[in-house]
Amino acid sequence: MLKIESAVKTFFKGTPQEHTALRGLSLHLKPGEFVTVVGSNGAGKSTLFNAICGSFYLDAGAVMLDGKDITYQPDFRRAKMIGRVFQDPMMGTAPHLTIEENLALAYSRKHKLPLAPAITAKETDFFREHLAAMGMGLEDRMKTKVGLLSGGQRQVVTLLMCTLSTPKLLLLDEHTAALDPQTSEKIMEITNRIVAENHLTTMMITHNLNAALRTGTRTIMMDSGQIILDIGEEERRGMTLDDLLRMYSQKAGGEFDNDRMLLNKDNP
Ligand SMILES: Nc1ncnc2c1ncn2[C@@H]1O[C@H](COP(=O)(O)OP(=O)(O)OP(=O)(O)O)[C@@H](O)[C@H]1O
Ligand SMILES: [Mg+2]
Repeated sequence: MLKIESAVKTFFKGTPQEHTALRGLSLHLKPGEFVTVVGSNGAGKSTLFNAICGSFYLDAGAVMLDGKDITYQPDFRRAKMIGRVFQDPMMGTAPHLTIEENLALAYSRKHKLPLAPAITAKETDFFREHLAAMGMGLEDRMKTKVGLLSGGQRQVVTLLMCTLSTPKLLLLDEHTAALDPQTSEKIMEITNRIVAENHLTTMMITHNLNAALRTGTRTIMMDSGQIILDIGEEERRGMTLDDLLRMYSQKAGGEFDNDRMLLNKDNP
């Protein structure tokens, strides 16, 4: 499904700030795999997502999605196939548009001509049904401007915008990090349901190591632009957070260094 081959990305090449954020990273994902991604601050996790989405082109290596080489495909083309949710609830939606308009915009990008007529009654029903399934009462607020919603509610709208037309790949970059623990738990529940129902191939960066081990089918740990641990379903079963941290220090030769992850060490 997703194949990344020996990806290399160096920022500020040839200057004193030169920094190689991806160092020959390779990763293969099978269809329907749900991979959680953890790693120290600056390990290159978000950069990996940026490389997959085409925010920049790689200096070397290749990205293939669903059998197609997209290494040099521009980001707006890839956006039709890849859904992405960011940490910041402000990022995925247009605040001055209503919930319904946001959903319609995302949906029409894939299903309609650019100048298609306004939202049809059939679409309204379709959106309402999906919103109701989220269990947050948003189906009764479809005419509310998204800027008035809470962070958690906005993340739900963003998640729906990304998944109403099934993407080939869903990328979640700490999408619950800005939410309170209870809302975060709820959004994870919704995420798991959407991923399972649509059999989505998914990657989720999380600062919650416990959640990383519990969620999805596989966990990868990044350090200095490389994948240093790749833990499959079998091996992951029964693994504790301390096991994971121990494996990290053996591989990386140092203590795990991610302020948010360690702060969240005791969260369930
Ligand atoms: N567009 C950019 N220009 C210059 N440097 C960048 C750029 N994007 C990322 N970097 C650098 O690449 C490294 C990896 O950054 P990245 O954001 O991928 O880390 P991360 O693993 O997501 O960390 P965090 O857990 O803090 O979010 C960092 O040193 C960062 O400063
Ligand atoms: Mg990041």
